[in-house]
Amino acid sequence: MEIQSNFSLKNYNTFGIEAKAKQFVAVHTVYELKTILEQNKTEKKFILGGGSNMLLTKDIDALVIHIDLKGKKIVKEDDAFVWIESQAGENWHQFVLWTIDQNFGGLENMSLIPGNVGTTPVQNIGAYGTEIKDTFISCEAINILTQEIKTFTNAECDFGYRESVFKNEVKDQYIITSVIYKLTKRNHKINTSYGDIQAELAKNNITTPGLKDVSNAVIAIRKSKLPDPAELGNSGSFFKNPILLKTDFEPIHQKFPEMKFFDISATEVKVPAGWLIEQAGLKGKRFGDAGIHKNQALVLVNYGGATGQEILDVSKTVQDTVFDKFGINIEAEVNVI
Ligand code: EPU
Repeated sequence: MEIQSNFSLKNYNTFGIEAKAKQFVAVHTVYELKTILEQNKTEKKFILGGGSNMLLTKDIDALVIHIDLKGKKIVKEDDAFVWIESQAGENWHQFVLWTIDQNFGGLENMSLIPGNVGTTPVQNIGAYGTEIKDTFISCEAINILTQEIKTFTNAECDFGYRESVFKNEVKDQYIITSVIYKLTKRNHKINTSYGDIQAELAKNNITTPGLKDVSNAVIAIRKSKLPDPAELGNSGSFFKNPILLKTDFEPIHQKFPEMKFFDISATEVKVPAGWLIEQAGLKGKRFGDAGIHKNQALVLVNYGGATGQEILDVSKTVQDTVFDKFGINIEAEVNVI
């Protein structure tokens, strides 16, 4: 465990932004993590997982602790279900593929989401009709100040749309070290409710899809819309889809009857921000090395040499343009540092 100084984070964030950490250390066991926290009580600390949901706009004047805890195991099973514990530093997509190879169901709709296991509860990741909260049992986390280990149950995580207790009440207080998911061993609940998945399966003449078919369909859809961070720096959806009260949405909808929306409760609708950005004429627009992706307007991209500030400026242009046209505020999903 070696602490390095003035360490480049370019390879540790999927936007591929050049920024330096004052100090950097990768930890491979919970014991190492505890030790580092104990030994650096007064240092400012910054916790880094897969770096897939952040935009670095400046150097980090802190000790960056990269959570590189690996391993996964079955901790419990019965006839129908299996409880799998994965360490926080496992790559999410590799983990999902492994569960599918074992014929364990529940995560297949979330194939190919960038990032690591440990960050999945933080923003309750989700895609194609499934969210992490649907299979999440609990996670272990270490208190940064006291080094005490705490288990958070599903209820204690207080999950919402891209929200959890880790982004709110206990923000910056804990480091998640492992997560337990409860997956099906049989009678898998195949979820093809999402139109794109149905279309992809139909294209391949698949009428009774299994876990692998759904995963393959999701992978194909994501590859066609979302850029691969290894080729084009990005952080997935940069914005959240705005949730509006129906009473606020009604007059906007009257003005723009073609606006897409989804009912999410008796009183609220969700509007696809990608649609708003596209209709505002910004899809595919490029400003220097920063831009809005050509296939999915929710995604901002780094064509190579963009700084975090340049991407942030583009995000502000997007927010202002959408607000001016539709009167709707769209919020960043990505953590801006
Ligand atoms: N749309 C457009 N133009 C665009 C993008 C989308 O008109 O450029 C329209 C689509 O036609 C569709 C609607 O917006 O009618 C929704 O689009 P899509 O199915 O692509 O999903 P999304 O709402 O844009 C969300 C998640 C994604 C997730 C997909 C699939 C958020 C912020 N994003 O995107 O998550 O993969 O649904 O479930 O909720 C991520 O969080 O990083 C992410 C990629």
